[in-house]
Amino acid sequence: MIQAFRAEILSVSHDPQHDPAAIRHEPDGLLVVEDGVIAARGAYAELAGRYGQVPVETLPGLVVPGFVDAHVHYPQTDRIAAHGDQLLDWLERHIFPAEKAFADKAHADVVAAFFLDELLRNGTTSALVYPTVHEQSVDALFEAALARDMRIVSGKVLMDLGPEGLRDTPASGRAGTEALIRRWRGRGRLGYAVTPRFALACSDTQLADAGALLAEHPEVLLHTHLAENLRECVEVAARFPEAADYLDAYDRFGLVTDRAVFAHGVHLSERAGHRLHESGAGIAVCPSSNLFLGSGCFDFGQADRHGLRLGLGTDVGAGTTFSLLHTQGIAYQAAQMKGTALDPFRALWLATGGSAALLHIGDRVGRLDVGQEADFVVLDPCATPLLARRTRDAGLAERLFALQVLGDDRAVARTYLLGRCAWNRDKT
Ligand code: GUN
Ligand code: ZN
Repeated sequence: MIQAFRAEILSVSHDPQHDPAAIRHEPDGLLVVEDGVIAARGAYAELAGRYGQVPVETLPGLVVPGFVDAHVHYPQTDRIAAHGDQLLDWLERHIFPAEKAFADKAHADVVAAFFLDELLRNGTTSALVYPTVHEQSVDALFEAALARDMRIVSGKVLMDLGPEGLRDTPASGRAGTEALIRRWRGRGRLGYAVTPRFALACSDTQLADAGALLAEHPEVLLHTHLAENLRECVEVAARFPEAADYLDAYDRFGLVTDRAVFAHGVHLSERAGHRLHESGAGIAVCPSSNLFLGSGCFDFGQADRHGLRLGLGTDVGAGTTFSLLHTQGIAYQAAQMKGTALDPFRALWLATGGSAALLHIGDRVGRLDVGQEADFVVLDPCATPLLARRTRDAGLAERLFALQVLGDDRAVARTYLLGRCAWNRDKT
């Protein structure tokens, strides 16, 4: 099937920091999609003749690549906005009790369906997702993602030092991971990530198992948390006195590779910055979560000195929004606290191609290039009276920045998966 979409189109091909040519913009563009894959993209005036026989659908807004959430917890959906604590107390008081309920597959099915629909409402088409320690929490998520044809990467949480009712053992963690990799390999648009919760939740034996699983399965990712909150960092230093820093605690078990995605990295040593660059590991920057839990602000200056690979995550339920559009605006504000004025095109890159590269799906999605899958979002710069006022007569950079700072799910008019409309704000 061939489809043609006419709209203003914007994407970012690579980190635009030092290369404005990374910004690709057609004020009046045409996107031609054949069987879910982009067959042509360019100025409408140039392409229209070539595809004259294909009916053209005009889209109501600015088309950008579907957002890629590089770090989010689906079982925490119902605990978003839990008041009062920083990371370790918040986990104990609000999060672990909620995650225990995912032993029940029927409960996991209901939350997974709501979660994925919420992603689509917010323009997120791909995500790297924490489930819980329970195997069936992964099945629930993957079944729901398969039904919607979304690109979701996930894997059973490993946490043999977790609280009662929410812990595995090194043996069951390893067997569960192996079984899930076997069960889901090659199905739909899904991918697997070995997911030790964080250094404090796993024994040395389990961290070593995670390294062995990563080495045995070259197609899977490693997904965990790193240097998020100060008290956590103090406890990690006490638990691993021989490690040079938090990252080194993972490195000793073979977890620091170019397939690793570390959430946060708010408190990184210079040595860790160097080692992250050397290994090619990526950081999922999660500014909304970092503010909500009082963790701190990610230092883009330090990351850029080391040339780190970066993406953007919501980290719901510590993050306060599923909107990666709004999270781009929060990233700007958090970066200001560290003396960096994050460029709006760079923020868009982080939420699309940057995150996609961290998930090793950057060849498939994130740039709206010919040959990529047609996952895209239609943003409405007039979604609210204030946005309409602020974007009237504004240039592209100013409109994009206003959408990031003032916009959220209300500004997502439509979300497309493989050229199929999966969310239409105006048809509900
Ligand atoms: N570190 C370990 N577990 C978690 C979690 O669930 N959320 C966040 N933000 N950090 C963590
Ligand atoms: Zn997290």
